[in-house]
Amino acid sequence: MSSTPKEYWTRAYREAPAIFDAFSRAEDPEGLVARRLLAHVPLSGRTVLELGCGTGRYTRELVPQAGLYLGVEPSSSMLSLARKSFNNLLQPPVLLRARGESLPLRAGSVEVMLAAWVVVNLREEIRDRVLKEASRVLRPGAEYGMWLLENHWDSQFQRYRGRGGEDELRLRRLLESDGFRLVEVVTTELCFPSSSEAERILGYLCGDTMLGHLRRSPTAVLEHRIVILHRSG
Ligand SMILES: C[S@@+](CC[C@H](N)C(=O)[O-])C[C@H]1O[C@@H](n2cnc3c(N)ncnc32)[C@H](O)[C@@H]1O
Repeated sequence: MSSTPKEYWTRAYREAPAIFDAFSRAEDPEGLVARRLLAHVPLSGRTVLELGCGTGRYTRELVPQAGLYLGVEPSSSMLSLARKSFNNLLQPPVLLRARGESLPLRAGSVEVMLAAWVVVNLREEIRDRVLKEASRVLRPGAEYGMWLLENHWDSQFQRYRGRGGEDELRLRRLLESDGFRLVEVVTTELCFPSSSEAERILGYLCGDTMLGHLRRSPTAVLEHRIVILHRSG
């Protein structure tokens, strides 16, 4: 979910992490995706690395399940909001300010990697470096390897953003050229406290195409489909 000329995700990572956080709390309110992920990859006792953990939407849910949980995130403002929300956890994650293409970790030191809405939108050159770095830090032959969460191209959320076609191409590239396989499509919702909150948050992040839809048909709930992808270590 990076910035296209009419979308403002990267501006939010820098300047408005609370807006991104409100979006991520609206996403999949019943936690279906984390449950499905854990059904495929048991984290217990394992060293887990989350790339681009943002304000910690998935970190919060997954950290109690793991042995050691490391989160890396390049944006200092996203990271400081994440840190605040982990204050009361018994077993907080280890958070590092770093980019996926240059990880401050030893080769072979991680058993499972997760990246939620990070990889698909990276520029090709950066994506290649991130995937190479992932192979370096994953333990050779790591049974559980790398897991991605990304948007399915066909959902109400994608239609309202006008992004379906572009995201289908990006996902197909991961499946056809980068060695990922599609494990599951989870149908869920973006569920905001009210239609005016949906308009405020999605308007900021997704811009005019989204705003046009929400002003014509105000709603607090949008259908959302999330894909789980996997590649062995
Ligand atoms: C759409 S947000 C997702 C945040 C979090 N994973 C979640 O699901 O709530 C994308 C995140 O990827 C981070 N990011 C962008 N480029 C990155 C890179 N090269 N390496 C690691 N993280 C990156 C951004 O700063 C942002 O926090």
